[in-house]
Amino acid sequence: MAGLLASVVKYASVSVAISVALYAALLGLLTTASFQSHVVYLHSIQMTWFKDLNVPETFGFLRNQVTPFSLRTADGERLYAWHVLPIELYRKHELELVAEPVGFVPDITSRHAFRLLRDDPDARLVIHMHGAGGTVGSGYRVPNYRALSAGQPGKIHVLTFDYRGFGRSTGIPSESGLILDAMTVLDWAMNVAGIPPSRILIFGQSMGTAVSVAVANHLALQFPPVTLAGIVLVAPFVDVPTLVSTYRVAGTIPILSPLARFPLLFNYLHRFIRDKWLTKDRIAQYVRAHEANAEKYRLTIIHAEDDYDIPWHHTPMVFWHAVNASVPAGISYEDLEMRKLESKIDLGAAGSVMEWRTDHGVIREEILKTGLHDVVMGYPIVTMAVMRSFESTDPFFTS
Ligand SMILES: *[C@@H]1O[C@H](CO)[C@@H](O)[C@H](O)[C@H]1NC(C)=O
Repeated sequence: MAGLLASVVKYASVSVAISVALYAALLGLLTTASFQSHVVYLHSIQMTWFKDLNVPETFGFLRNQVTPFSLRTADGERLYAWHVLPIELYRKHELELVAEPVGFVPDITSRHAFRLLRDDPDARLVIHMHGAGGTVGSGYRVPNYRALSAGQPGKIHVLTFDYRGFGRSTGIPSESGLILDAMTVLDWAMNVAGIPPSRILIFGQSMGTAVSVAVANHLALQFPPVTLAGIVLVAPFVDVPTLVSTYRVAGTIPILSPLARFPLLFNYLHRFIRDKWLTKDRIAQYVRAHEANAEKYRLTIIHAEDDYDIPWHHTPMVFWHAVNASVPAGISYEDLEMRKLESKIDLGAAGSVMEWRTDHGVIREEILKTGLHDVVMGYPIVTMAVMRSFESTDPFFTS
């Protein structure tokens, strides 16, 4: 018996040692830039392997409802993009659209769909920044495009693209690269499609929220500042260091959170994080710029409580950083929570809404009870956020 016990103990300690060694090896691997980029961006995971993005009909679109095309970045990458027509506009022009050839379009300006966007002084454009992994056609992104234009299906176009290194786009992802990609798309929207920023809205989900905030902030800091109709963020995160300490792979396996108990080691590893995506600082800078320029802004932040990928409590933190920046003397997290007790609207099973208004801006936090990390993208709450944003820049848009 004693022998058996000894060998069980020995076996157990060997397997503990192996687990610790494997974990240490994983952490070591995580400090390398290329492994990190695969973990952060998941760009090798396409999820649409068996479908051709150049045949959008197989993703549930009507013939030529989507125009696949590409854009060039200043540093020579080629970004793959889809221009998605809203349904009522499609219906009105169905005959002309159906008559055009299908597939990838080398010159989008030659297409009817493009002219419907460029030549309508009332058209609106949502620029879509997707999350990590996949392509423009993956998962809940397609229902998301429908939700974005559902409020005015004769007017709201969607432009969605794959960042460098994703899907059919060239290159490898990095923070500065993705920001340049998003700037390239905005530049195309304003200068090729000719849509003024007041008719453009940015929608981002998950990792795309970080890109959205970075780009909106970049535009706000230009001279003269460029102000968009709004930003809608679904499932944002404070920054990558905070995210990795709470993130769980597939909702269950924590990567760095076991180390949070060892602050020295934890902080040491944080130094190796290459792309930090400091949304909390950028959103504060964005709000400060708009307040200082007395420019209107509208920020909507949406998160579901059952989001297992990015815990929903990232949203009250992001919200706080934005609100704090709108108050000259600042406001503490606790004081803002106290204000929520007075003014937060409880919608029961639909969750809650907290709206913060200043003379220039509206910052809105919507916490849903359900919606997971990505299913929420197709929900009417997204349609409402888009419509509120466009209405705030032009009250006639919704009348
Ligand atoms: C909150 O805003 C105040 C005033 O602008 C600023 O001094 C402070 O650093 C901000 N707090 C955070 C956490 O950013």
